[in-house]
Amino acid sequence: MQLNGRTALVTGGGRGIGQGIALALAEAGADVAIADLDIAIARETAARIEALGRRCATFQVDVSESDSVTKLISDVVSTFGQLDIAVNNAGVISIKSIDELSVQDWDRVMAVNAKGVFLCTQAELNVMRPRQFGRIINVASIAGKIGFPDLSHYSASKFAVIGFTNAVAKEVAKEGVTVNALCPGIVGTGMWRGEDGLSGRWRQQGESEAESWGRHQKTLLPQGVAQTPEDMGQLVVYLASAEHVTGQALAVDGGYSL
Ligand code: NAI
Repeated sequence: MQLNGRTALVTGGGRGIGQGIALALAEAGADVAIADLDIAIARETAARIEALGRRCATFQVDVSESDSVTKLISDVVSTFGQLDIAVNNAGVISIKSIDELSVQDWDRVMAVNAKGVFLCTQAELNVMRPRQFGRIINVASIAGKIGFPDLSHYSASKFAVIGFTNAVAKEVAKEGVTVNALCPGIVGTGMWRGEDGLSGRWRQQGESEAESWGRHQKTLLPQGVAQTPEDMGQLVVYLASAEHVTGQALAVDGGYSL
C-alpha cells in the first residue's frame, strides 16, 4: 500500500484508461477524485473505488475550459484537504485524413488534449508547489512519439503533451514535484469501438468490428495483443511512487513505438 494517505485526481476517470488508472491508484491505497465531462460514468467508477474501501468523490469538469479546471482543483482540495497525485488523462480523438481535416476538428482535439493538459497542470502546480510534493502524470500516446495516418491533429496534440511535460518537469524539478507522460499503445476502449472508432474506420470490407480489432492486434502489435487499462494503472502507480523519474515519456505499448 505505497500510496496510503495520498490523494489522487484522475480526469476522464469515468471509463476506459482513466477508470483503470483510478482503480489501480485506489488498490495501491490512495483516495481518489474522479473528474469527467460525464458525471454519470464518473459515479460508476466511484462506486467501484468505494467498494475497495477508499474515499472517493466525483466532479464534473470540462478540461478545455479554464474556469472549469480552476473550480475543479479548488473543489478537490476543499473535499480532500490536499492533492498529491494528478493524472491528466481526459482526451478525445477523431479520425480524419489531412484533406478531410477541418479547423473545428483541429481546434477540438487541441483544446481537450493539449490545452486541457496545460490548464490542469498549471492549476495542480499551484497546489503542489507550496507543499513541495506532487506527482503529475499526463496521458499522451504513442501517437505523441510517431505519426499515424488519419490522425495528424491527434498526433500534433500528443506531441505537444510530451514537449510540455518535459519542459515543465525541468521548471519544477527542485520543488519536489515530478511531471511525466504516459504513452499508451493500443487499448480497446471506447476510442476503438463503433463506426467512428479507429477499428471501424480501418475495417476491411466484409470484416466485423471484432475481426478488425483482432487483425489490428495481430498485424500492428509486436506482442500480438493489445494493452489494457490495468497495464496503464501499473505504470501510474509506479510514477506516483518514484522520486527520481521526471520529464519522461514512457510507453506501455508492447514495443509498438520502437
Ligand atoms: P475514452 O473515450 O474511453 O475515455 C475518455 C474519457 O475522457 C471519457 O470518460 C470522457 O467522458 C472524458 N472526457 C472527454 N472529453 C473531456 C473533457 N473535455 N473534459 C473532461 N473529461 C473529458 O478514451 P480512452 O481510450 O480511455 O483514452 C484516455 C486517454 O488515453 C486519452 O487521453 C487518449 O488520447 C489516450 N490514449 C488512448 C489510447 C487507446 O488506444 N485507447 C492510446 C493512446 C492514448
